[in-house]
Amino acid sequence: LKRCSRENLAENSKLFKEQEAWEEHQMGKAALKYGSENKNQISKNYQFVFEDQIDFIDPSVIDGDKFDLQEIESEKKTSKSASEILQDERKTLPIYPYRDELLQAVENHQVLVIIGETGSGKTTQVPQYLHEAGYTKRGKVGCTQPRRVAAMSVAARVSQEMGVKIGREVGYSIRFEDCTSEKTVVEYMTDGMLLRNIISEPNLTSYSVIMVDEAHERTMSTDILLGLLKDLIKYRSDLKVLISSATLDAEKLSNYFDFAPIFKIPGRRYPVEVHYTIVPESEYIDAAIVTVLQIHVTQAPGDILVFLTGQEEIETTKEILNHRIRGLGGKIPELIICPIYANLPTELQTKIFEPTSEEVRKVVLATNIAETSLTIDGIKYVVDPGFVKVKSYNPSTGMESLLISPISRASANQRAGRSGRTGPGKCFRLYTLDSYQKEMDDNTVPEIQRTNLANVVLILKSLGIDDLVNFDFIDPPAAESLIKALELLFALGALNKFGELTKVGRRMAEFPLDPMLSKMIVASDKYRCSDEIITIAAMLSVGNSIFYRPKEKQVHADNARMNFHSGNVGDHIALLRVYNSWRECDYSKQWCYDNYVQVRSMKRARNIRDQLERLLKRVEIEIASNVNDLNAIKKAITSGFFPHSARLQKDGSYLTVKHPQTARIHPSSGLAQVLPRPRWVVYNELVLTTKGYMRQVTELKPEWLVEIAPHYYQLKDVEDPASKKIPQVSRNSKC
Ligand code: CDP
Ligand code: MG
Repeated sequence: LKRCSRENLAENSKLFKEQEAWEEHQMGKAALKYGSENKNQISKNYQFVFEDQIDFIDPSVIDGDKFDLQEIESEKKTSKSASEILQDERKTLPIYPYRDELLQAVENHQVLVIIGETGSGKTTQVPQYLHEAGYTKRGKVGCTQPRRVAAMSVAARVSQEMGVKIGREVGYSIRFEDCTSEKTVVEYMTDGMLLRNIISEPNLTSYSVIMVDEAHERTMSTDILLGLLKDLIKYRSDLKVLISSATLDAEKLSNYFDFAPIFKIPGRRYPVEVHYTIVPESEYIDAAIVTVLQIHVTQAPGDILVFLTGQEEIETTKEILNHRIRGLGGKIPELIICPIYANLPTELQTKIFEPTSEEVRKVVLATNIAETSLTIDGIKYVVDPGFVKVKSYNPSTGMESLLISPISRASANQRAGRSGRTGPGKCFRLYTLDSYQKEMDDNTVPEIQRTNLANVVLILKSLGIDDLVNFDFIDPPAAESLIKALELLFALGALNKFGELTKVGRRMAEFPLDPMLSKMIVASDKYRCSDEIITIAAMLSVGNSIFYRPKEKQVHADNARMNFHSGNVGDHIALLRVYNSWRECDYSKQWCYDNYVQVRSMKRARNIRDQLERLLKRVEIEIASNVNDLNAIKKAITSGFFPHSARLQKDGSYLTVKHPQTARIHPSSGLAQVLPRPRWVVYNELVLTTKGYMRQVTELKPEWLVEIAPHYYQLKDVEDPASKKIPQVSRNSKC
């Protein structure tokens, strides 16, 4: 505690010193021998000679907090009702002994920074304590999460603990899904959602407390929220603001809030042995699979957590792992594989929390979500390939891409720590000690400094915050990024040349979507195809999970998918056809099965579409259908996505028009195999792995670019270099 109570500080700091010592110890350790030759042998012949292959180094040890595990275990064994057990479990969390002190600190201070290790009970307990102490009589307790999966799963857990149905007293609200009611007093939500709510409720009058959770993640929405809350507390002296973080560098958050007190919850941590590979692993998925199997056959019971970068990688890894296990017949004990990523259906998400029996081992394949947002009990082994998928933005070109990048040292330490929560753990880093020490950054760069700011600028402008340069950012974005965002919003017609919000901009801000998608919707009014465009926007918002492709029926699945692409209409129109065919079949499940389309994704698209339809009414755009005029639909798409245009090169690749970058059409696109290749395309997103890939691609006519976005493209940009022919452009029709 910084100011609240000095007594505990000594004890707390002892624990944290131990942790620091542990971290320092990592730095000085020798590398492991994990020879690539041997590894190949392992992967080919499945010879699990784990301990022979790896020189165990002296484990780096920190003492776990000494608390009586036996006592907790024996309590669990007595026959108690489910709710009694949950209540007992609450009392075993590290935060519990500090309950009253914490409430006192909240009472005494308007802003409080709370830090404590992941799993100590910040997210699930603090809002309950506040509710129990009567804060919810004055207004809701809102708790923000950077990820929607976390918001949902935590709300589910807390509603169980409180013995209420989710969506009543305890609820969550995430984009396109409001699971709250009049009764809701504890509300978990994404940080982006609260930011949007501020547009309609600038003083957040319905809340008595806002807890900005996982603040260390420093997402863009969290950073902006902190800035807005810092201002709001001046006007609402009754509003309590709690900022919680899993890492120790809370000083910065405290300083930002005029030296708000820091409440530290001492963690419980067991020793974690950390192993490195001796050579860098180029095939980290393969290395991860081999390591999982080795752990499974050679190591003591305990579940495994593997950090991967995204849904596709997780699904691939799951398939390969299953395949290898099957190949081994009954020679190895059962291994349950549980994936967890943002798009995973809720029923399957809860599976990762189910405890396994003694004989069965569970391996959780997770995205970064398991780094701090979710705590899975029973994890004893962590496999860390050292990568994360991050949105990266190049302000000089204005290009945004998803990039698989090395994690920071802070992340690596968080990941390792996940294995030492309930007992001593082991972490297998699939990178070298040298990479850890010399190549990784200390901390992850705040999102605001590596992302396209257009969305946030649009929100701030619609909140009436015009002076962005002087906005009190915790870490200011690069001036160049701000300028790029203003330029883009200007090109999209959301801002006028004075930087003021236009009518188009005001309409765009109503949609909880990326400005380019919002613009596409607003522009559909002009082309009389709003019905089709909101369907396309909804389908794009579902992500890349519309089609499925079971291994044994790949040809059938591909044929079914290509049916929607007849005439090489492009991916956007294909998505529209999928939705419309489903709608014509009365939203039938059977239709989905027959066409290798995921029912769940379609339901989600329908739900999103319904909401977009309501928003259209709000901005007074009429629903109009123009399904047969594909050019009108494509022009509406281009009105939003013109900054994402690319032109065919001689070698068959594409070059983005405005800021040249080579890219290919993603193999999953309906246009990937089309010959001759379309000369000009617009794409929804660019994914950079080893190459740049454009996802969701549609052909366009280059003259549309100048017609639709005359501020952005000049004739010289779309001049055809082969024929030197200048396309005919009708200069009158601006969007
Ligand atoms: O926020 P913090 O990391 O400090 O901890 P928490 O998320 O409140 O988690 C406290 C405990 O609740 C952990 O032991 C989790 O295993 C448990 N929990 C759970 O069982 N199911 C969830 N969906 C979330 C948490
Ligand atoms: Mg938490």
